[in-house]
Amino acid sequence: MNGDGDFEKMVKDLQSKIEQDEEKDYSKTVINEYRNPNNFGVIENSDAFGEIKGPCGDTMKISLRLEGGKIINACFWTDGCGASIACGSMLTKLITGKTIETALDITSEQLTDTLGGIPKEHLHCTVLTVNTLQETIKNYHKVE
Ligand code: FES
Repeated sequence: MNGDGDFEKMVKDLQSKIEQDEEKDYSKTVINEYRNPNNFGVIENSDAFGEIKGPCGDTMKISLRLEGGKIINACFWTDGCGASIACGSMLTKLITGKTIETALDITSEQLTDTLGGIPKEHLHCTVLTVNTLQETIKNYHKVE
């Protein structure tokens, strides 16, 4: 085997080890949302925008497009961990098509349950995501 082949095998082995470790620690839903996130980005000229930097140092942003009190489009952006990507993806899916009031009622526990659970050390990522949504809606009410 030549040197390039050895390197490729090493990278493949490492990748599969990382994937096995993820599957041990995270639910299938978290892994799926994190690997194929929905609604990643920031809506230009959004109707509502909020941003919070969590105690971990990572930032979550949520932007919404609203029509008649309903959320017709929701996007998130984060520079945080994989769990925060899964949280943003799932939360923006959950709130699309819902009223602002319904969106405000979603708790971090509900988000965690919908994701099939999150390791204890990443529960704060669900709290950061839900708090950012609440901040986004608060900002909307301020300019309304
Ligand atoms: Fe910072 Fe998850 S958002 S560790």
